[in-house]
Amino acid sequence: MSQTTSQTDYSALIEPTRVHSRLYYDPDIFQEELEKIWYRTWVYVGHTSEIPNKNDYVTKSIGPMPILMVRDREGEIRLLLNKCPHRGNQLCAYQKGNRTTFTCPYHSWTFNTNGDLMGYALPEGYEGTDKKGLGLGKVPRIAVYRGFIFGSMAHEGPTIEEHLGGAKASLDQLLDNSPTGELDLTVGFLQHRTKANWKFMVENETDGYHPGFVHSSIFQVAQSGIANLYGSDSTALTRDFGNGHTEFDLRPEWRKLDTPLGWFGTTADRLPAYVKAMNESYGADRARQIMIDGTPHIMIFPNLFIAEIQLFVIQPISVDESIQHVTALQFKGGEDINRRLRQQTMGSVGPAGFLLADDTEMYERNHRGSKIRDPEWLVLTRGLHRERLDENGYRIAHSTDETTQRGIWRHYLKLMTEAQP
Ligand code: FES
Ligand SMILES: [Fe+2]
Repeated sequence: MSQTTSQTDYSALIEPTRVHSRLYYDPDIFQEELEKIWYRTWVYVGHTSEIPNKNDYVTKSIGPMPILMVRDREGEIRLLLNKCPHRGNQLCAYQKGNRTTFTCPYHSWTFNTNGDLMGYALPEGYEGTDKKGLGLGKVPRIAVYRGFIFGSMAHEGPTIEEHLGGAKASLDQLLDNSPTGELDLTVGFLQHRTKANWKFMVENETDGYHPGFVHSSIFQVAQSGIANLYGSDSTALTRDFGNGHTEFDLRPEWRKLDTPLGWFGTTADRLPAYVKAMNESYGADRARQIMIDGTPHIMIFPNLFIAEIQLFVIQPISVDESIQHVTALQFKGGEDINRRLRQQTMGSVGPAGFLLADDTEMYERNHRGSKIRDPEWLVLTRGLHRERLDENGYRIAHSTDETTQRGIWRHYLKLMTEAQP
């Protein structure tokens, strides 16, 4: 991996309670982020349910870089770089499928699902050339946490457990909402292309200050009480897990409501099959508590966002362009709740959805605003005076406080300035 010598003094651009606008639009900073964040730390790639069988594959990405996520003929998960080693052609143009080999469209070199070169077209021209060393590039480290597949382009570094830290408990909370403890993420992804820097998305996913204003139209139309979660009287919390991971913890509000599936805007009698399956799996008491607490709202740095009913993957394309890939969460063994999860996903983040369009408008306005010269510094002071530690030692504050953004930037500064291995 090539190393860049930074021309940027990041500690002069990131202070504990303010950040400089240049961080969002400078192409040199973006290039450095690729080396120090996207091609180094653990990045979420996909889910095991997307490749259940041997030789299944889906095309994914790590940052702007296309990846083939494959289950090879032995059943091992592999992350291969989607680039033909001959002349660099993009090897696979399909989104997903099942195949024992990949053949490059340019000169027909063929690779197996381990990434090894199997053969050349017109092989007499390669007399004496060793196929070894001409295989596909590989993501050197792969880790799976309960079905979530992460890749790291660095040969060494923290384990996935070290990286996730306290955020692991929120993934566990999510999986507890499945009667089988498993997800099935195969209903397909929508893609939202946004002319904005990726960090605006990461910061916004746990920005609890904006929903009452930006999303007021959907809250009114849906006659939803969600806006109250982000009002002055809310007991919901923002939490900074460290390592850039942040969440809204809505459980204090749901526990006050004390209604199973209240988090989902419904009641147990509307989803009888799901409730029955949950009771059978966990016992009535535990199932009741799980269904009161609901699913998490967590941003796992740098690109995995779970928003109660959806899973987003943030992909930076360039300094000023990003794609948000989004799919409905689906629980294995939860047919009736799954149908509603899909419907709500279409209503909120589908092509005519109300929710993400509002956020996207904000991202693009933020990005345009970042280039306006004065003031250069953006303010992150909200809720400093009421920040405190929870029982596990993580910073928490009111649901509208900028504890989360401060945590994200603290981690970003560390990644951009610490010595490279
Ligand atoms: S570029 Fe792939 S075979 Fe030539
Ligand atoms: Fe939003």
